[in-house]
Amino acid sequence: MSKPKVLVAVNTFSDIVDRLRPHFDVETNETDQPLPYDELIRRLQGKAGVYVSGSNRIDDALLQACPDLRAVCTMAVGYNNIDVPACTARGVLVSNAPDVLTETTADFGFALMMATARRITESEHFLRSGAWKHWSVTMFAGADVHGATLGVLGMGRIGAAIARRGHLGFGMPVLYHNRSPLPADQEAPLGATWVEKDELMRRADHLVIVVPYSPSSHHLVAERDLALMKPTATLTNIARGGVVDDAALARALKAGTLAAAGLDVFEGEPSVHPELLTCSNVVLTPHIASATVATRRAMSNLAVDNLIAALTGGTPPTALNP
Ligand code: DGY
Repeated sequence: MSKPKVLVAVNTFSDIVDRLRPHFDVETNETDQPLPYDELIRRLQGKAGVYVSGSNRIDDALLQACPDLRAVCTMAVGYNNIDVPACTARGVLVSNAPDVLTETTADFGFALMMATARRITESEHFLRSGAWKHWSVTMFAGADVHGATLGVLGMGRIGAAIARRGHLGFGMPVLYHNRSPLPADQEAPLGATWVEKDELMRRADHLVIVVPYSPSSHHLVAERDLALMKPTATLTNIARGGVVDDAALARALKAGTLAAAGLDVFEGEPSVHPELLTCSNVVLTPHIASATVATRRAMSNLAVDNLIAALTGGTPPTALNP
């Protein structure tokens, strides 16, 4: 009997892809670029499963055009690129890759916040350009992180890991906003206090945004929210582009109503709002918060575990619509 066919739409670790081969006839994408949407549909013909990342759009039109598809397994924790209700309606299992990237992503969020507060990339550019002629008292004077108020917008697993770093490592009072407060026994070890969103905006010295993207979180941080922030504050976004209104953010950074921003995610990435590119007080990275070798391997292995289980009668460990 011939094996079911699957597509690994993302160029990933070959030894991890090899784990699929005993079970499936495996086709891969060797290009290191996301397959364009039409190409993805073409290559999904006759495939029972697909391994994707956040760069592949899986919508109802694609599902309709790929009637053999039974499992969509993303190696990302975020799944706003996948229409889960449409998959459910068509009997297609969807899984994501939570937990395995939490600490790595929190490390990066904290690093980006620190780089932003302490003006690390801005000062490095200055040095590399040959502009450094003498030491000065106020040269690249930034904002302290230790003891400052940490604001966390979105207190899920990654938000909690950031709060823990701030509370235990840097003595930061932690404020957070989430749809609902955590139980007291979960707040206490994080030193975290729930506040309304407006209060979070007003009081945070360093705001880190970690909410998942959905239509309800589109431009959750918009012009009026930015206007509430202290002019000395920083904003770090490691969630998804679209949660922050990037045009409004660029205006606030240029007007000096916000001191600095650290951004790993962008509306319409890989494009970056042109006004952000001209701001010196912003640290920009290309969506790499979970990018360590160990974590990207763990994410890939989890997607493979899900794909194997979904198509061989097992229980996918992290299914979203079991
Ligand atoms: C995730 O896992 O959601 C990261 O943002 C990488 O896409």
